[in-house]
Amino acid sequence: MTVNVNFSGNYQELVSPELTERLQTIANKMNDGTAAGSDFLGWKNWPSTIDAELVSRIQETAKKIQQQADVLVVIGIGGSYLGSKAVLEALREPFKSATGVEIIFAGHLVSGAYLKNLMTYLDGKEVAVNVISKSGKTTEPAIAFRFLQDYMEKRYGQKAAERIYVTTDAEKGALLDVAKEKDYARFVVPDDIGGRYSVFTSVGLLPIAAAGYSIESLLSGAKRAEQELVEVHTDTNPAIQYAILRDHLYRAGYPVEIMAVFEERLTFVQEWWKQLFGESEGKEGKGIFPASVLYSTDLHSLGQYVQDGKRMLFETFVNVESVGDDLVMQQAANDSDELNYLAGKSLHEVNGAVQQATAEAHLSGGVPLITLSIPALDEDTIGYLLYFYMLSCAYSAYLLDINPFDQPGVEEYKVNMFRILNKPGY
Ligand code: PA5
Repeated sequence: MTVNVNFSGNYQELVSPELTERLQTIANKMNDGTAAGSDFLGWKNWPSTIDAELVSRIQETAKKIQQQADVLVVIGIGGSYLGSKAVLEALREPFKSATGVEIIFAGHLVSGAYLKNLMTYLDGKEVAVNVISKSGKTTEPAIAFRFLQDYMEKRYGQKAAERIYVTTDAEKGALLDVAKEKDYARFVVPDDIGGRYSVFTSVGLLPIAAAGYSIESLLSGAKRAEQELVEVHTDTNPAIQYAILRDHLYRAGYPVEIMAVFEERLTFVQEWWKQLFGESEGKEGKGIFPASVLYSTDLHSLGQYVQDGKRMLFETFVNVESVGDDLVMQQAANDSDELNYLAGKSLHEVNGAVQQATAEAHLSGGVPLITLSIPALDEDTIGYLLYFYMLSCAYSAYLLDINPFDQPGVEEYKVNMFRILNKPGY
């Protein structure tokens, strides 16, 4: 398996015949379409059924974007940007550029300074835009697109339309109307796939391909996960094991999960994971609160709380077995920094010691630990990992009797915002 799960406690003790039966019932209901929110289970078989013609069209469009632009501005919020951002950051080696275009995100916040400075940054560079919104009416990306559409039309005139790509619903939404009116190239967000489960659709694939990464390898990792994780085998299926452990810890009085990573490249996988689990599970007064830390960085900030603060936390470490480029500590003639005891060790080994030491310290402080190990940070592994999380998230939510695929609580701020801004009808 590409993801391996370890637990600081006794996992076997947690697996009862009743729990196995419950998980099997959840699997059956997802398969026969009777689970809550079944209309949004399209992501489940997507990696094995994605249309090869769609993949080719995305790759051709990515090539066209690379020929016409230096920068692709991707406009979207929530599930319409976090999947591609997570993959791009995980694959990008520090201080190295990707081989394709530079990707810059917009529309994920409302900041005049951000957008104004972005447009200044774009001056003098060739630009393309991919605006992504399933509903086609989300306010934050719509505002960003209004400014960027105007910017593109001022710069490129009629030809702006050849540089704007729209990813939205096939049938409805204000963005679809604009795309039709202006004759922008269009990609579809499938009806049965919600934003936070959409990374393997055009939503995630077009920006990832435009940046120069292999979407074929990403999809083949996801497809392997789909095939390997299909059976409810509590001994061997890591998605089931992770769901069982989370459910156990939640019920044992640990309502906060901290995902800890030791490689900066994973910090947007953390952001994507927080949205996936937070928006899928946090309903009806239930759900684990997903939080994140980057170690060692946060050992010198939040580490104090994790070690000694209120006992409500469990940690999930993501361990990357091989990180590619590395450095080895050398013997210094003069050991004035007193680091010669590390001579001969690679920094990956030192980082491993940080991880082991942190695990021991936090365990002794009463913080249970799950460890997820992955072999590397490449397209295939990341594809597998993200599918693993989506499947495990669905099981986790169903174990709490929650529909994983809606987000009713997101509406309240929107209604208030429309009232405050005097939107007609509010
Ligand atoms: O997971 C989700 O469904 C949400 O986070 C959406 O992706 C987010 O609200 C953006 O919605 P839309 O793509 O309709 O603009």
